[in-house]
Order: sequence, then C-alpha cells, then structure tokens
Amino acid sequence: MSLFRGVLSQVLSWTGLWQLMVLVGAGLGAVVSVWTTKLLVRHAWFTHRLSCFSKPHAHSWLLGHLGKMQSTEEGLLQVDDLVQMYTHSCSWFIGPFYHLVRLFHPDYVKPLLMAPASITVKDELFYGLLRPWLGQSLLLINGEEWSRRRRLLTPAFHFDILKNYVNKFNTSTNTMHDKWHKLLAEGTNHVEMFDHVTLMTLDSLLKCAFSYNSDCQRFSSEYVSAIVELSDLIIDRRTKILHHWDFIYWKTQQGKQFKKALSIVHRFTMEVVQKRRALISQQKKTGAHFTAVPQKKKDFVDIILLSKDEHGRGLTDEEIQAEANTFMFAGHDTTASAISWTLYNLARHEDHQESCRQEVTDLMQGRETHAIQWEDLANLPFTTMCIRESLRLHSPVQAVTRKYTKDMDLPGDRTVPKGAISLVSIYGTHHNPAVWTNPHEFDPLRFEPANTEGRSSHAFIPFSSGPRNCMLETINMEELQDE
Ligand code: HEM
Repeated sequence: MSLFRGVLSQVLSWTGLWQLMVLVGAGLGAVVSVWTTKLLVRHAWFTHRLSCFSKPHAHSWLLGHLGKMQSTEEGLLQVDDLVQMYTHSCSWFIGPFYHLVRLFHPDYVKPLLMAPASITVKDELFYGLLRPWLGQSLLLINGEEWSRRRRLLTPAFHFDILKNYVNKFNTSTNTMHDKWHKLLAEGTNHVEMFDHVTLMTLDSLLKCAFSYNSDCQRFSSEYVSAIVELSDLIIDRRTKILHHWDFIYWKTQQGKQFKKALSIVHRFTMEVVQKRRALISQQKKTGAHFTAVPQKKKDFVDIILLSKDEHGRGLTDEEIQAEANTFMFAGHDTTASAISWTLYNLARHEDHQESCRQEVTDLMQGRETHAIQWEDLANLPFTTMCIRESLRLHSPVQAVTRKYTKDMDLPGDRTVPKGAISLVSIYGTHHNPAVWTNPHEFDPLRFEPANTEGRSSHAFIPFSSGPRNCMLETINMEELQDE
C-alpha cells in the first residue's frame, strides 16, 4: 500500500507528470515510426514489384497519382489517354497507401477476371463504401461464403423466374410512356431521360423483388427517394478522400444524410422480409402449401427465403435483407444507365432507330396486343445489336477491381503481385483502338455474328466476366435462342 502511495505521489508531482508525458510521447513516437517504416517498406516493395508495368508521370515518389483518379467525364478522357499511350496496362499508386495496376486490354483482363473465386478478393478501397448499405452481400463477400451464397441465389435468376418479370416491365414502361405522352400534350419538348428511366427501373425492381406496387413513377416514395439519395451520396463520398474514414464521414452533413436514408431503406427491407417469414411459418403451421405467397408468382424475396444449400441450411433474415438491398442497388442504376444511353444513341442515329422500329413493328404484325413477350427477345436481332453496341460505347459499370491472394501472371512476363489492386477498366477495354476499329463510333454492326469472329472473348465485358460476373450475364441472347 505504501509502495502504491509512493508511486501515486511521484506521478502526481510535476516532475512525475513530465516524465509520464515524455514516456507517452516516446511510446506514440515509436508506434508512428514503426507504422511509417512499415508503410514505406511496403511502398518500396510494391514499387519494385510493379516496375514491370509502365508508370504514367506521378506527382512524386511518395504521393504518386493521389487525387488524379476521377469518376467524371474527365476521368474517362484520362483513361482514353492511358489506353493510347500504354495499350494494355500501367501501374498507378495513390500515396504510399494503395498500389494499383490499371488494365485495358482483353489479353491482360482475361487471366484476372477468369481467376478462381477462391483466390479473388474484393478490395475495401472501391467496395468498402457500399458496406453500410449492402452489408455482407454477394457483391462484397469473398471465399467459401461467397460461393455458397452464389449457389443459393442462382435459382432466383433462372429463365423460368425472369420470364415472369416481363409483364411487370411492360406495365412499368407503359406508365413511363403515359407520362411522356402527357408531358408532350402539355407542350414539353425535352425531359431529363435518366430521371424518368431510373424511376421506371426502380418501379420494375420493386415489383420483381417484393411484389410491391410503389407507384413511384407518379407519386413520390420515401423508399425510392432514399435509394436515389444513397446512390448519389456514395459517388460523392468516393471522390473525397477524407470522407473515406468513417469517423470523419459520419460527422459530416453528407454522412448524416446517408445515415437517415439508410435507416429508411433498411427498415423497408427488414419489414418485407420479416412479414414474408411470418407468412411462411404460418402456412407451415396450418399445413397450407409451402410457398410464400400462393396466389401470385414467386418474387425474389420468396425464392431466396425458400432456398436451401446441400445441408438444408437457408439464409438468415440479415443475409436476405443484404441480398434484397443488393438486388435494388445493382439492378436499378445499371439498367437505367443502359436504357438511357441506348435511347441516346438511337436518337443520334436515326437510320438505326428506324431499323429497330421496323423490326419491332414486323414482330408485332397481326397481334392483338403490342406487349413484348419473353420469347420475342430472341427475335429482335438488330435491336439487340444496338443494345450491345450501346453497352460497349457507354458501359454502365466503368471498371471493376480485384485483389488476389497470390501473384498473378500476365502476358509479357509481367506479374501483378499478391495484394496489389487490379483495376480492370471496362471503359478502357471497350475503347481500346488496338481492339476496336473507330472505338468512339456507334456501330451496331460490330455485333453482327460474321463481324464478331476472331474477336477476343474479353473485348466486350459490360457484365464483367468469370466467376464474379454479373448475375444476369448468364442470360444472353444466344442462350435464349437455344432454349
Ligand atoms: C445493364 C445492366 C447491368 C450491368 C451492366 C451490370 C454489370 C455488372 C458488373 C460489371 C458486375 C461485376 C461487379 C464487380 O465485380 O464488382 C455485376 C455484378 C452483379 N450484378 Fe450486375 N449489372 C447489370 C444489371 C444487374 C441487375 C438487374 C441485377 C439484379 C437485379 C444485377 C445483380 C448483380 C449482382 C448480384 C452482382 C454481384 C455478383 C457477384 O459478385 O457474385 N446486375 N453487374
């Protein structure tokens, strides 16, 4: 006790306090020095390993290309320059923190995208910002858990399920067309297409995922506005490096807005999932037929609620919510972008627009109703070529990133070292003059079967490729024709 008192009085004296501060300061200094040394050694190691790739001019050996990467039109023009200059790939580093290889040629992109999922990891720099919204979802998880989840979700994207969605798409599209007719009749001669199409894709997805008729195209919906807000805030956060740290972001105005929108979106999905789960339990108890909602076709939530793995294990409510949120996130903006750009390209090329119109008119000949059916999709070859060319020229997803748990060999004796980020530029690959003639021109005939012969399987990758490709990539027109 007297020893304790002695130490206490020593610490509480001015000299003691000074010594304590020196000690703490020295401790902190040591931690910072070790951290900085480790960071610099890691930086030197990656710089050495990546020296097999050309490196565009950087600010300095330490800051590298910090602040140069932009998610804007300027950013895309910058990719055009990189592609012109380096043809297939180059290295890039964001301060001493992140080391990247940027790739924009099919021969370089293919071995990376086709690598087994077991050695592929989604990096936190590009995907981490989605985690508060999507949680442990298919898009963000890795390894064994990803493979199990993908197996459980694949049936939800089967033809037989998607077929049922066509009527929902038709209804939502008709609502959008009615709005345009009304605007025209009122004298409006231009609209911001993307806003209208985004509401239409959200309307469709809500019907497909939750059998929920939000009527969001006509009346404002709290849930839909929250989704649009979250998407915008994520883009904004990505461009502000300081906002990448949670402890800063949650204190900013944008962080607070994000949290508010997030609670609306999460509450909505949680309620849907819990209500459906309760309905299934009730049906089980009463011995009713074991299907979530018997009087209607199954929607996405029904299917994933009922799916089981080989051990009879299904998904938890939390996992189902994560997947429902991902379905809405991954599905609405991509399709809205694809549709808007296709309309833009057809508007600029009236000859192609007329050919599409003629193709549809011919198909509808002699029919009582003019609604497109699932089977029709395989019988619109020219329109499909226009959609593909639009996905090439204006791909909704500009790039995907990956890390690997082992060194990855690329052509020309180049190696992406384990732990470096591989940034596969979909935009760069689609605009690479070494792969495409006149890459900036809209020319649907590139996708005519005779013209695709000899083209690399990885020249056109709007849905990415390999094990971690888009869930919808399995659905392509050739397969529809083979059905
Ligand atoms: C034109 C429309 C679309 C395009 C261009 C597109 C593109 C992509 C791309 C490039 C990826 C890979 C992302 C990455 O590696 O980080 C992806 C993944 C994914 N997409 Fe799509 N997508 C589209 C529509 C949709 C729709 C409508 C849904 C569902 C409703 C969807 C669900 C998913 C899911 C769940 C993943 C994650 C797959 C995994 O990691 O295993 N996508 N998509």
